[in-house]
Amino acid sequence: MKFPDIKTTLPGPKAAALIGVDHNHVSPSYTRIYPLVAEKGEGLWIHDPDGNTFLDFTAGIAVCATGHCHPHVVNAIKEQANKLLHMSGTDFYYTSQITLAEKLAHLVPGDGSNKVYFGNSGAEAVEAAFKLARWYTKRELNLAFFGAFHGRTMGALSLTASKTIQKKYYNPLIPGITHIPYAYCYRCPYHMSYPECGMECVRWVEDTLFRTTVPPEEVAAIFVEPIQGEGGYIVPPPEFHRELQKIAKKYGILYVADEVQSGMGRTGKMFAMEHFGVVPDIMALAKGIASGMPLGAMVARSDIMVWEAGSHASTFGGNPVSCSAALATIELLEAELMENAKIRGEYLMTGLRELQKSIECMGDVRGKGLMVAVELVKDRDTKERATDWRNEVIQKAFQKGLLLLGCGENSIRFSPALTVTVEEIDVCLSIFEESLREVAG
Ligand SMILES: Cc1ncc(COP(=O)(O)O)c(C=O)c1O
Repeated sequence: MKFPDIKTTLPGPKAAALIGVDHNHVSPSYTRIYPLVAEKGEGLWIHDPDGNTFLDFTAGIAVCATGHCHPHVVNAIKEQANKLLHMSGTDFYYTSQITLAEKLAHLVPGDGSNKVYFGNSGAEAVEAAFKLARWYTKRELNLAFFGAFHGRTMGALSLTASKTIQKKYYNPLIPGITHIPYAYCYRCPYHMSYPECGMECVRWVEDTLFRTTVPPEEVAAIFVEPIQGEGGYIVPPPEFHRELQKIAKKYGILYVADEVQSGMGRTGKMFAMEHFGVVPDIMALAKGIASGMPLGAMVARSDIMVWEAGSHASTFGGNPVSCSAALATIELLEAELMENAKIRGEYLMTGLRELQKSIECMGDVRGKGLMVAVELVKDRDTKERATDWRNEVIQKAFQKGLLLLGCGENSIRFSPALTVTVEEIDVCLSIFEESLREVAG
């Protein structure tokens, strides 16, 4: 079995020198939580400049779906780079963008009559969805959720309700957005229990919100993550999206699924919405779509994507190399990786649930496929958030060579490449357990 190999104190001398330069010249707005300098990656393994080897359960924030530098993706990138680096899909046509658009149009749930807008990131995909929803409905209001993360450009940020630091000093943002409680059953915002609650969080939208403050006829769209990502990998009950979409349809409101983090096979299905049997009107994609090459896509039914030439575009969006990387990525997802995400996800979840039996602070273990999180609490009854323990566990794991990231206020996420093996999960579980026991006894 392969294990992380930590040869120096962390950061090692070369990494420390680079970080010193970084601190002088790179924006301090980034949120590096531990001093990892990634020099080289292969599969789930990251090597730093000092010869240390780490096991990566972050996949670069759930991006490198096929593992670091998968040869099939790297070859597709090389081939495309030798042919055409850029031409701009805004003003010209080229093969890889057209081929990818056709592929995505059929991949996204629905009858295949979809059209695709290409950008460079998740925020751009959401931004495009925001603009298209306004363009199509000619309505000004929108709903989004507390805990949601949709990106950091001003439009996407206006939909975001994750952490106030992300909004501080940036007001005024785009008006007309009402944030509503998500179906976070472990901490039900209505202090009820599923299923006796009768999906109060959905009923409240129609019974209270639409009768008191938000006229539904003025709402363009509901923006929703199928499984809330940065908010804590929160999986809503099976009927949540179906019930909410029913209300949306009743009032001509578009249902916009932000699949930036949950999409592209990570949950064991190509898109997380498929677990809920819901076909959204618009979908935002990015992260895992191109194995690390920058690409965002907004997919909508062709009867919705009717905006006219000049109404939205991007110079770099749908870059030929990124599109080729996406096509190679999708081939791998369809061939085996989506299935692997399902099977290995169950294995990971079983392992974590086993640990939960004897580790009190593991309040909640949740997820789908390889979108898995553990919520740490000081006490299982009071559910007091163990944010400090969460942060310490991540630091300990790093020192032992396991890369993890947090999500929500007090959760740890497990979002490895979809190529992850049983052995790699076993190593992750053993380092996680050791770190957890050291921090929380
Ligand atoms: C659900 C979701 N939407 C949008 C974004 C923004 O993506 P990007 O950072 O590529 O702009 C993220 C990023 O974490 C995300 O998780």
